[in-house]
Amino acid sequence: MLNSFIFVVLPYAALALVIFVTPYRYFSDRLTWSAYSTQFLERKTLLWGINPWHYGILPVLAAHFLGVIAPGPMKALLGNQNRLLVFESIGLALGLFALFGCLLLLLRRVNTPILKRVTFASDWALLYLLAAQTLSGVYVATYMRWGSQWYLHTAVPYLWSLLTFNPQLEYVTDFPLVFKLHAAGAFLIVALLPFTKLVHLLYVPFDFLKDPPILYRWRSKGSE
Ligand code: HEM
Repeated sequence: MLNSFIFVVLPYAALALVIFVTPYRYFSDRLTWSAYSTQFLERKTLLWGINPWHYGILPVLAAHFLGVIAPGPMKALLGNQNRLLVFESIGLALGLFALFGCLLLLLRRVNTPILKRVTFASDWALLYLLAAQTLSGVYVATYMRWGSQWYLHTAVPYLWSLLTFNPQLEYVTDFPLVFKLHAAGAFLIVALLPFTKLVHLLYVPFDFLKDPPILYRWRSKGSE
């Protein structure tokens, strides 16, 4: 029952929400198609949180995707013991870097009263979920060693079976609960994507990274 919920209901519900709600939000509420900037409210902790978070999580996610789209080359790459050790170590370092950034971003919102006023329930849900997701990922990488290898032989065929609408749960049902929670967390994050600021992920293709800095002008006496 739990397995069917996590590995069939959740992923398809998440997919349906992304496919139907995302375009609706784009056309009905175009101006919110971004992450609201809070940089002008607090910038010091933001800098120390947002950089480790993005530079840590993006390569880790890219590795997850590479496993799905190119399992053959990935198996060949990680088939050598030394390379496996190097890539696993880099992965763990990046995961810890992302976790550090995410926790800092969470603490920043908790400890800055002015930020609390512009933090909605959806922002809290997303931040806690991302922190839990990163933590469970780092846990799996640490205590269920050589995940980058067994992922290719278990999670990847399962994910392909989902994409071809023929879910084969036998690849994943015998895993410990923490792995199942990691998969459930991923599907929940995808489900939340069209309702939260995470929608900026689809802001193709990361153009905002080369946007010029925004200039804020304060309207107050003496500055007019
Ligand atoms: C929102 C989506 C996801 C995020 C943000 C995420 C995040 C992470 C992070 C931060 C790590 C730790 C990396 C490391 O320290 O080496 C990790 C590891 C892992 N994740 Fe995910 N993950 C996601 C989706 C998934 C999915 C859908 C699966 C499989 C069904 C999965 C399976 C794994 C496995 C097996 C590892 C261990 C890799 C290793 O041992 O090197 N993840 N994930």
